Amino acid sequence: MAIAYLNGEWMAPEDAKVSVFDRGFMYGDGIYEVMAVYDGKVFTLEDHLVRLKRSLSAIRLPSPHTDGQWRSIINEAVLRGNETPAYLYLQVTRGVGSPRSPVYPVVSKPTVLITVMHAPVLERIEIRPYKMVTKQDFRWGRGDIKVISLIANGLLKNEALDEGFDDALLFRDGELTEATASNVFMVKDGTVLTPPKSNFLLHGITRDHVLGLLAVAGVRCEERAISHAELLVADEIWITSTGSEVWPVGQVNDCVIGDGAAGVVWQLVDRLFQASKE
Ligand code: PDD
Repeated sequence: MAIAYLNGEWMAPEDAKVSVFDRGFMYGDGIYEVMAVYDGKVFTLEDHLVRLKRSLSAIRLPSPHTDGQWRSIINEAVLRGNETPAYLYLQVTRGVGSPRSPVYPVVSKPTVLITVMHAPVLERIEIRPYKMVTKQDFRWGRGDIKVISLIANGLLKNEALDEGFDDALLFRDGELTEATASNVFMVKDGTVLTPPKSNFLLHGITRDHVLGLLAVAGVRCEERAISHAELLVADEIWITSTGSEVWPVGQVNDCVIGDGAAGVVWQLVDRLFQASKE
Protein backbone atom coordinates (compact mmCIF):
# COMPACT_ATOMS: atom_id res chain seq x y z
CA MET A 1 0.00 0.00 0.00
CA ALA A 2 1.48 3.36 -1.02
CA ILE A 3 1.00 6.34 1.29
CA ALA A 4 1.35 10.12 1.08
CA TYR A 5 1.91 12.71 3.79
CA LEU A 6 0.94 16.23 2.74
CA ASN A 7 1.33 19.08 5.25
CA GLY A 8 0.41 16.98 8.26
CA GLU A 9 -2.32 14.81 6.66
CA TRP A 10 -2.05 11.16 5.58
CA MET A 11 -3.75 9.98 2.41
CA ALA A 12 -3.45 7.79 -0.70
CA PRO A 13 -0.87 9.39 -3.08
CA GLU A 14 -3.52 9.94 -5.78
CA ASP A 15 -5.57 12.02 -3.32
CA ALA A 16 -2.71 14.42 -2.48
CA LYS A 17 -3.38 17.83 -4.09
CA VAL A 18 -1.52 21.16 -3.94
CA SER A 19 -2.51 24.70 -5.01
CA VAL A 20 -1.79 25.88 -8.56
CA PHE A 21 -0.17 28.89 -6.82
CA ASP A 22 2.32 26.67 -5.03
CA ARG A 23 5.78 28.05 -5.83
CA GLY A 24 6.93 24.50 -6.55
CA PHE A 25 4.43 24.38 -9.43
CA MET A 26 4.92 28.03 -10.52
CA TYR A 27 8.71 28.29 -10.29
CA GLY A 28 10.15 24.91 -9.46
CA ASP A 29 10.98 26.61 -6.15
CA GLY A 30 11.69 23.64 -3.92
CA ILE A 31 14.04 20.82 -3.07
CA TYR A 32 13.70 17.06 -2.61
CA GLU A 33 15.28 13.85 -1.36
CA VAL A 34 14.85 10.23 -2.48
CA MET A 35 15.59 7.53 0.09
CA ALA A 36 15.53 3.74 -0.10
CA VAL A 37 13.67 1.62 2.44
CA TYR A 38 15.21 -1.82 3.00
CA ASP A 39 13.74 -4.25 5.53
CA GLY A 40 11.39 -1.56 6.81
CA LYS A 41 14.22 0.86 7.59
CA VAL A 42 15.34 3.99 5.76
CA PHE A 43 18.84 3.44 4.41
CA THR A 44 21.39 6.17 5.34
CA LEU A 45 18.60 8.34 6.81
CA GLU A 46 20.94 10.62 8.75
CA ASP A 47 22.96 11.46 5.62
CA HIS A 48 19.74 12.34 3.76
CA LEU A 49 18.66 14.60 6.63
CA VAL A 50 22.00 16.45 6.48
CA ARG A 51 21.65 16.98 2.72
CA LEU A 52 17.97 17.98 3.10
CA LYS A 53 18.96 20.76 5.52
CA ARG A 54 21.85 21.82 3.26
CA SER A 55 19.51 22.11 0.25
CA LEU A 56 16.91 24.05 2.27
CA SER A 57 19.53 26.46 3.54
CA ALA A 58 21.00 26.89 0.03
CA ILE A 59 17.60 28.03 -1.31
CA ARG A 60 17.05 30.22 1.79
CA LEU A 61 14.04 28.23 3.01
CA PRO A 62 13.95 27.67 6.79
CA SER A 63 13.34 24.00 7.60
CA PRO A 64 9.70 23.54 8.58
CA HIS A 65 10.71 20.72 10.99
CA THR A 66 13.45 19.86 13.44
CA ASP A 67 15.56 16.74 12.80
CA GLY A 68 13.53 14.89 15.43
CA GLN A 69 10.27 15.84 13.72
CA TRP A 70 11.61 14.81 10.29
CA ARG A 71 12.71 11.45 11.70
CA SER A 72 9.36 10.81 13.29
CA ILE A 73 7.31 11.78 10.16
CA ILE A 74 9.61 9.71 7.92
CA ASN A 75 9.45 6.66 10.20
CA GLU A 76 5.66 6.94 10.44
CA ALA A 77 5.46 7.16 6.63
CA VAL A 78 7.49 3.95 6.34
CA LEU A 79 5.21 2.18 8.85
CA ARG A 80 2.03 3.40 7.20
CA GLY A 81 3.32 2.68 3.68
CA ASN A 82 4.17 -0.85 4.78
CA GLU A 83 6.19 -1.50 1.61
CA THR A 84 9.68 -2.91 1.56
CA PRO A 85 11.79 -2.44 -0.42
CA ALA A 86 10.38 1.00 -1.15
CA TYR A 87 11.35 4.50 -2.23
CA LEU A 88 10.56 7.37 0.07
CA TYR A 89 10.29 10.66 -1.78
CA LEU A 90 10.36 13.89 0.24
CA GLN A 91 9.69 17.27 -1.34
CA VAL A 92 9.62 20.70 0.26
CA THR A 93 8.54 23.79 -1.70
CA ARG A 94 8.31 27.42 -0.64
CA GLY A 95 4.51 26.95 -0.50
CA VAL A 96 1.79 29.21 -1.84
CA GLY A 97 2.96 32.72 -2.74
CA SER A 98 1.30 35.63 -4.48
CA PRO A 99 0.56 34.65 -8.07
CA ARG A 100 3.52 35.15 -10.39
CA SER A 101 5.93 37.08 -8.24
CA PRO A 102 9.53 35.96 -8.02
CA VAL A 103 9.79 37.74 -4.67
CA TYR A 104 9.78 35.33 -1.74
CA PRO A 105 6.72 35.68 0.51
CA VAL A 106 7.58 37.42 3.81
CA VAL A 107 6.09 34.52 5.74
CA SER A 108 6.16 31.30 3.80
CA LYS A 109 4.39 28.14 4.81
CA PRO A 110 6.37 25.43 3.01
CA THR A 111 4.53 22.58 1.32
CA VAL A 112 5.83 19.22 2.57
CA LEU A 113 5.06 16.08 0.59
CA ILE A 114 6.32 12.61 1.45
CA THR A 115 5.36 9.49 -0.46
CA VAL A 116 6.34 5.87 0.09
CA MET A 117 5.99 3.62 -2.94
CA HIS A 118 6.94 0.05 -3.70
CA ALA A 119 10.42 -0.47 -5.25
CA PRO A 120 11.31 -3.40 -7.53
CA VAL A 121 13.83 -5.98 -6.31
CA LEU A 122 16.45 -6.76 -8.95
CA GLU A 123 18.05 -10.16 -9.14
CA ARG A 124 21.80 -9.68 -9.74
CA ILE A 125 21.48 -11.75 -12.94
CA GLU A 126 19.13 -9.10 -14.37
CA ILE A 127 21.75 -6.35 -14.13
CA ARG A 128 22.64 -5.40 -17.68
CA PRO A 129 25.51 -2.90 -18.09
CA TYR A 130 24.36 0.46 -19.43
CA LYS A 131 25.26 2.06 -22.73
CA MET A 132 26.03 5.73 -22.06
CA VAL A 133 26.63 8.70 -24.34
CA THR A 134 28.78 11.70 -23.41
CA LYS A 135 27.15 15.13 -23.51
CA GLN A 136 27.86 18.73 -22.68
CA ASP A 137 26.65 19.54 -19.14
CA PHE A 138 24.58 22.66 -19.82
CA ARG A 139 22.77 22.64 -16.46
CA TRP A 140 22.94 25.57 -14.04
CA GLY A 141 25.94 26.05 -11.74
CA ARG A 142 24.37 24.66 -8.56
CA GLY A 143 24.03 20.94 -9.24
CA ASP A 144 24.97 20.40 -5.59
CA ILE A 145 21.49 21.54 -4.48
CA LYS A 146 18.88 18.82 -4.90
CA VAL A 147 16.29 21.07 -6.54
CA ILE A 148 12.98 19.87 -7.95
CA SER A 149 13.59 21.71 -11.25
CA LEU A 150 14.93 18.81 -13.31
CA ILE A 151 14.26 20.16 -16.80
CA ALA A 152 17.88 20.00 -17.97
CA ASN A 153 18.40 16.52 -16.48
CA GLY A 154 15.22 15.34 -18.24
CA LEU A 155 16.28 16.84 -21.60
CA LEU A 156 19.70 15.19 -21.41
CA LYS A 157 18.28 11.81 -20.35
CA ASN A 158 15.66 11.83 -23.10
CA GLU A 159 18.17 12.90 -25.77
CA ALA A 160 20.32 9.93 -24.70
CA LEU A 161 17.33 7.55 -24.89
CA ASP A 162 16.33 8.88 -28.33
CA GLU A 163 19.88 8.21 -29.54
CA GLY A 164 19.64 4.58 -28.39
CA PHE A 165 21.58 4.89 -25.10
CA ASP A 166 20.48 4.31 -21.52
CA ASP A 167 21.73 7.61 -20.11
CA ALA A 168 24.24 10.45 -20.55
CA LEU A 169 27.61 11.12 -18.91
CA LEU A 170 27.98 14.87 -18.52
CA PHE A 171 31.08 17.01 -19.13
CA ARG A 172 31.64 20.64 -18.17
CA ASP A 173 34.78 22.39 -19.46
CA GLY A 174 36.17 19.00 -20.48
CA GLU A 175 35.72 17.41 -17.04
CA LEU A 176 33.24 14.73 -16.03
CA THR A 177 30.57 15.94 -13.58
CA GLU A 178 27.96 13.17 -13.19
CA ALA A 179 25.20 11.34 -15.08
CA THR A 180 21.64 12.73 -15.35
CA ALA A 181 20.49 11.17 -12.05
CA SER A 182 23.58 9.51 -10.59
CA ASN A 183 27.27 9.97 -9.74
CA VAL A 184 30.02 8.32 -11.77
CA PHE A 185 33.03 6.17 -10.84
CA MET A 186 35.73 4.71 -13.08
CA VAL A 187 38.47 2.16 -12.40
CA LYS A 188 41.94 2.36 -13.99
CA ASP A 189 44.78 -0.01 -13.12
CA GLY A 190 43.15 -0.98 -9.81
CA THR A 191 42.49 2.62 -8.65
CA VAL A 192 38.92 3.86 -8.30
CA LEU A 193 38.39 7.44 -9.49
CA THR A 194 35.41 9.76 -9.08
CA PRO A 195 35.07 13.51 -9.65
CA PRO A 196 35.57 15.64 -6.53
CA LYS A 197 32.56 17.34 -4.90
CA SER A 198 31.85 20.78 -6.33
CA ASN A 199 28.89 23.04 -7.00
CA PHE A 200 28.49 21.34 -10.42
CA LEU A 201 27.37 17.93 -9.17
CA LEU A 202 25.12 16.41 -6.55
CA HIS A 203 26.96 15.18 -3.46
CA GLY A 204 25.43 11.73 -3.72
CA ILE A 205 24.72 9.78 -0.56
CA THR A 206 25.41 6.53 -2.43
CA ARG A 207 28.70 7.99 -3.74
CA ASP A 208 29.92 8.70 -0.21
CA HIS A 209 28.66 5.36 1.07
CA VAL A 210 30.55 3.52 -1.70
CA LEU A 211 33.75 5.51 -1.02
CA GLY A 212 33.43 4.50 2.65
CA LEU A 213 33.00 0.81 1.75
CA LEU A 214 36.01 0.94 -0.59
CA ALA A 215 38.17 2.61 2.06
CA VAL A 216 37.35 -0.13 4.59
CA ALA A 217 38.11 -2.78 1.94
CA GLY A 218 41.50 -1.14 1.32
CA VAL A 219 40.81 -0.27 -2.33
CA ARG A 220 42.73 2.81 -3.51
CA CYS A 221 40.38 5.70 -4.39
CA GLU A 222 41.05 9.18 -5.72
CA GLU A 223 38.56 12.04 -5.91
CA ARG A 224 39.91 14.04 -8.85
CA ALA A 225 39.01 15.55 -12.22
CA ILE A 226 38.39 13.01 -15.01
CA SER A 227 38.82 13.99 -18.67
CA HIS A 228 36.80 12.69 -21.62
CA ALA A 229 39.83 10.83 -23.03
CA GLU A 230 40.56 9.17 -19.69
CA LEU A 231 36.99 7.98 -19.24
CA LEU A 232 36.93 6.26 -22.64
CA VAL A 233 39.90 4.05 -21.74
CA ALA A 234 38.63 3.13 -18.26
CA ASP A 235 38.85 -0.53 -17.20
CA GLU A 236 35.43 -0.19 -15.52
CA ILE A 237 32.77 2.48 -15.10
CA TRP A 238 29.78 2.44 -12.73
CA ILE A 239 27.13 4.92 -11.72
CA THR A 240 25.72 5.25 -8.20
CA SER A 241 22.35 6.51 -6.93
CA THR A 242 19.68 5.63 -4.41
CA GLY A 243 17.59 4.00 -7.15
CA SER A 244 20.29 2.24 -9.19
CA GLU A 245 22.60 1.51 -6.20
CA VAL A 246 25.86 0.66 -8.03
CA TRP A 247 25.18 0.01 -11.72
CA PRO A 248 27.82 -1.08 -14.26
CA VAL A 249 28.43 0.72 -17.56
CA GLY A 250 29.55 -1.46 -20.49
CA GLN A 251 29.80 1.08 -23.29
CA VAL A 252 30.45 4.82 -23.69
CA ASN A 253 29.63 6.28 -27.13
CA ASP A 254 31.03 3.59 -29.45
CA CYS A 255 33.75 2.42 -27.03
CA VAL A 256 33.33 -0.84 -25.15
CA ILE A 257 34.47 -0.49 -21.51
CA GLY A 258 36.62 -3.41 -20.36
CA ASP A 259 34.99 -6.42 -22.01
CA GLY A 260 31.56 -4.80 -21.86
CA ALA A 261 30.44 -6.83 -18.85
CA ALA A 262 30.33 -5.81 -15.16
CA GLY A 263 33.94 -5.77 -13.94
CA VAL A 264 35.66 -7.39 -10.95
CA VAL A 265 35.80 -4.20 -8.88
CA TRP A 266 32.08 -3.65 -9.54
CA GLN A 267 31.43 -7.23 -8.32
CA LEU A 268 33.27 -6.42 -5.10
CA VAL A 269 31.51 -3.08 -4.56
CA ASP A 270 28.10 -4.57 -5.31
CA ARG A 271 28.74 -7.36 -2.81
CA LEU A 272 29.84 -4.87 -0.15
CA PHE A 273 26.89 -2.61 -0.92
CA GLN A 274 24.31 -5.40 -0.69
CA ALA A 275 25.85 -6.55 2.61
CA SER A 276 25.75 -2.99 3.98
CA LYS A 277 21.96 -2.91 3.66
CA GLU A 278 21.59 -5.52 6.41
N1 PDD B 1 18.88 10.80 -8.09
N2 PDD B 1 23.25 13.07 -9.27
C1 PDD B 1 22.00 13.42 -9.62
C2 PDD B 1 21.79 14.48 -10.64
C3 PDD B 1 20.90 12.77 -9.01
O1 PDD B 1 19.64 13.12 -9.33
C4 PDD B 1 21.14 11.74 -8.06
C5 PDD B 1 20.02 11.02 -7.37
C6 PDD B 1 22.47 11.42 -7.75
C7 PDD B 1 22.82 10.34 -6.73
O2 PDD B 1 22.48 10.77 -5.43
P1 PDD B 1 22.09 9.74 -4.28
O3 PDD B 1 23.17 8.73 -4.25
O4 PDD B 1 22.06 10.57 -3.07
O5 PDD B 1 20.75 9.12 -4.63
C8 PDD B 1 23.51 12.11 -8.36
C9 PDD B 1 17.72 10.38 -7.35
C10 PDD B 1 17.75 8.99 -6.89
C11 PDD B 1 16.49 10.75 -8.07
O6 PDD B 1 16.44 11.88 -8.51
O7 PDD B 1 15.58 9.96 -8.15
